[in-house]
Amino acid sequence: MSVTKTLFDTMPDGREVYLYTIENNNGISAGIITRGATLQSFNCPDKEGKMGDIIMGFDKVADHIKSGTYTGNVIGQYANRLCNGKFTVNGTEYQVTQNEKGKTCLHGGGEYNSALWKAIIIDDCAVEFSYHSPDGCEGFPGNVDVTVVYSLNDHNELEINYEAVSDKDTILNFTNHAYFNLGIENGNVLDHELMLNCDYFTPTDADSIPTGEIRSVEGTAFDFRTPKKIGKDIKADDEQLIMCRGYDHNFCVNGEIGKLRTVAKVTDEKSGRKLEVMSDLPGVQLYTGNFIDGTETGKGGIVLNQHYGFCLETQFYPDTPNQPNFPQCTFKAGEKFKSTTIFKV
Ligand code: BGC
Repeated sequence: MSVTKTLFDTMPDGREVYLYTIENNNGISAGIITRGATLQSFNCPDKEGKMGDIIMGFDKVADHIKSGTYTGNVIGQYANRLCNGKFTVNGTEYQVTQNEKGKTCLHGGGEYNSALWKAIIIDDCAVEFSYHSPDGCEGFPGNVDVTVVYSLNDHNELEINYEAVSDKDTILNFTNHAYFNLGIENGNVLDHELMLNCDYFTPTDADSIPTGEIRSVEGTAFDFRTPKKIGKDIKADDEQLIMCRGYDHNFCVNGEIGKLRTVAKVTDEKSGRKLEVMSDLPGVQLYTGNFIDGTETGKGGIVLNQHYGFCLETQFYPDTPNQPNFPQCTFKAGEKFKSTTIFKV
């Protein structure tokens, strides 16, 4: 087990961005950079033992900044969307940044993922990243102190532990926005087989805001309870898929909220790599890189085309504060937000 720290790049204003690489005794390694506490790489062997990076992303900080993909970033203060950028806490309505079509708030307006996080090495398998979000930043109430600990063990589990506390009652919803591709040398992820431990999903309107309905996946293109290729039904005649050009939806994870359970399992026959996702959160956004369009060049000079990565963003459901029938994510001043997501290869 080891953790190494190296200079990765610089921010546009000259501040240094560091890369922390955690390697386990099987030679598997995860790299995290301080800009956005971003999961930069996750190297694991294919069926022939050849190491490969399963994170779709960029080599340079400037490309991360330019891109609208949020790849590998930690997202806060509210991951996913808020309708009209509004919500109410204790009877006070808050207006936050409407950074999507001038209408919705997407991924907290981009604050946490653009920030330079502090990092400390905890031991030979874990690094803690921390960030202080000032009260009112992007319109969100509360001074929020958040820590995200990445650790890797010899079961090849990359564990991400989130903890946050605010000094005002507020909404909190964090995720990691990694795009995975278990064999990017072979192209897009449509042939990857996906299992989702989810009986229901939350359909959306044209702005990707949940309508409030919690719909059964039974008999729909959204049924991944038995493993199927991501691409199998992605072009189905379903208004939800047509609207989003593929999957870009929150699924409701089966099992008890607050308990770690399997969210998803993905296998790629071609590379022989696999990924399992576990989380204690209520939901997961399956996003199949629908809006990636070949205009960006990723790590190693690979042109990023549509569906070149899939995201499994563990989260509270989108727009939760405006949807009384969803599991709520308003936290009292001083109350600790705690959550764990594991990516196991
Ligand atoms: C959203 C997508 C968006 C992507 C990148 C995902 O979490 O659901 O709609 O295109 O993030 O911004």
